Amino acid sequence: MSPARYDPGAISLHWVHAALIATLFVIGLSIDDLPRGPERSATIALHKSLGIMALLLLALRLAWRRLHPPPADGRLSPAQRRLARNGHRAVYLLLALTPLSGYLSSSFTPYPMRVFGYLIPKAGWPDEGLNALFGTAHTVFAWTLLALILMHIAAVILHWLQGVPVLHRMLPGRRR
Ligand code: HEM
Ligand code: HEM
Repeated sequence: MSPARYDPGAISLHWVHAALIATLFVIGLSIDDLPRGPERSATIALHKSLGIMALLLLALRLAWRRLHPPPADGRLSPAQRRLARNGHRAVYLLLALTPLSGYLSSSFTPYPMRVFGYLIPKAGWPDEGLNALFGTAHTVFAWTLLALILMHIAAVILHWLQGVPVLHRMLPGRRR
């Protein structure tokens, strides 16, 4: 069976989401090195704003996926297809849990929650314990997400080494 491409909407959403997640990691990990002050506050604010965007993008992506189901890849065995499906489900789960835990952690601080300067509702009240709890969850989820993404990239390379390239399915180009 011909290994059809994902539709252009799914391809655009995949790469915008991937770039956003990479940016969030770079910004998130830079926060610890910054001394308390305006630069640190601005960096955290940018991280939160982009993190909320990543959550909205996930919702858009899942809605798009429902309307445009991914093309089957007839070259894979049923076991490989099941593995890919469960792997992608795990990535989607962590793409939800990571920003949600970040949002909850930030909800239990005394600071207002802003997205690019605009106030948005918080889901909590000032509570250091809950802030720390969701903060730890955020760190654990973020590292789990990173591990899954590295496995995802490794799977793409492995398929290529085995002579079953899949990358073109997620790249723009003429439909076969
Ligand atoms: C998919 C989206 C997100 C990713 C991949 C991500 C990733 C990260 C990473 C890697 C760190 C550093 C972890 C560490 O220092 O142990 C971090 C820290 C943080 N993130 Fe996120 N994040 C996301 C979304 C969010 C959202 C939506 C919020 C809040 C609205 C948020 C708030 C924070 C805060 C407050 C910190 C800690 C800063 C500090 O060290 O005080 N994140 N994030
Ligand atoms: C260099 C980095 C990356 C490469 C080369 C890559 C490549 C691919 C390819 C080829 C597929 C299609 C697999 C198939 O069905 O044949 C795919 C799907 C997917 N990728 Fe990536 N990806 C990368 C980064 C990411 C990142 C950072 C994320 C997280 C936002 C991500 C999330 C996903 C998800 C959730 C799917 C499943 C799509 C679906 O069927 O709904 N990828 N990726």
